[in-house]
Amino acid sequence: MKIIHNPADLCRQLAKRRKSQSIALVPTMGCLHDGHMHLIETARKMADFVVVSIYVNPLQFGANEDLDRYPRTPEADAKRCVQAGVDMIFHPPTLYADAGPLVSLHVQQLADVLCGASRPGHFDGVATVVNILFNIVQPDIAVFGEKDWQQLAIIRRMVRDLHLPVQIIGVPTVRECDGLAMSSRNRYLDAADRRRAATLSQALKAMARQAGDGIHDCATLLATGHAILHEAGIEAEYLEIRHADTLQALHRLQHDQPARAFLAARIGKARLIDNMPLD
Ligand code: PAF
Repeated sequence: MKIIHNPADLCRQLAKRRKSQSIALVPTMGCLHDGHMHLIETARKMADFVVVSIYVNPLQFGANEDLDRYPRTPEADAKRCVQAGVDMIFHPPTLYADAGPLVSLHVQQLADVLCGASRPGHFDGVATVVNILFNIVQPDIAVFGEKDWQQLAIIRRMVRDLHLPVQIIGVPTVRECDGLAMSSRNRYLDAADRRRAATLSQALKAMARQAGDGIHDCATLLATGHAILHEAGIEAEYLEIRHADTLQALHRLQHDQPARAFLAARIGKARLIDNMPLD
C-alpha cells in the first residue's frame, strides 16, 4: 500500500491504473473506525483499486468547532488500511493554496436545515473539498456513510448539478452493540456519557417502530423520540422528520415519500448525529 502526500504524484500514479482498472475513493478525515472499514469493504467489492483519502478539512469547521482537537491517528489509520486491503492512501498536508481557496462551492436549500442550520458554511466546505478530491482522484465510484445522511444527499445533488462522472454509493451506518452510531467523535465521550449516548439510536428506533405500527402523524412520532431523550436528560439540538432526498420537513408519512428521522444532540464534549428510515 502506498501513502501519497502530493496531488500531482497521485494523479500520475492513478493515470496508469485508470487504463485497466476501476477506481474507488473513500473520502475520510482519518481516525478510522469499523464504520470506515465497512466503507472500504464496499469499495473493495465494487472497484479494482481503492484509494482512501485522509484530510481534516479546515473549510468545514466553524470558528468555535473542534478542528484543533479533531483526533489525528495517521499510523493507526495506515495499519487499518493495510489490513483492509486498501491500495493507496492520499494524505495531503493541505489541499488549499495560501490561506484558503478563493473559489469554492456554495450549497443552497439542502444546507440550510438540520446540521446546516447551526453550522453555517459547513456543507460549503464539505462540497468544496469533496469536489477537489473528485478532481484529483477522478474515481469511478465514491463511497460515503449514511450516518452523515445530509452530507450524502448534498454530495448526490452536487454530482447531479455539476455533471460529475462519478457514482455515489451510500453505506448503512455501522453501530456499536448498544446501537450508538460509530463516529470518530465518540472518542470525546467519558464512560457515563458513552452510556447515555446509546439513547439517541433508541429514540430513533422507537420512532421507526411506531411508524412501522402505522402511526403516520409526525408530531406523534417526534413526541415519542423527545420523551425518550428527555428521560435520559438529553435535549436534542434537533429531532426532525424529513423527506430522505429533498430534506423537506414532513407532517405526515406517505407511502410515496421516503422519510427519515434526523437527530443531533450534544452529550458531554461531543456533538453527535444519527438518522433512521421511517418505513
Ligand atoms: O465525512 C467526512 O469524513 C468528511 O465530511 C469528508 C466527506 C471526508 C469531507 O471532508
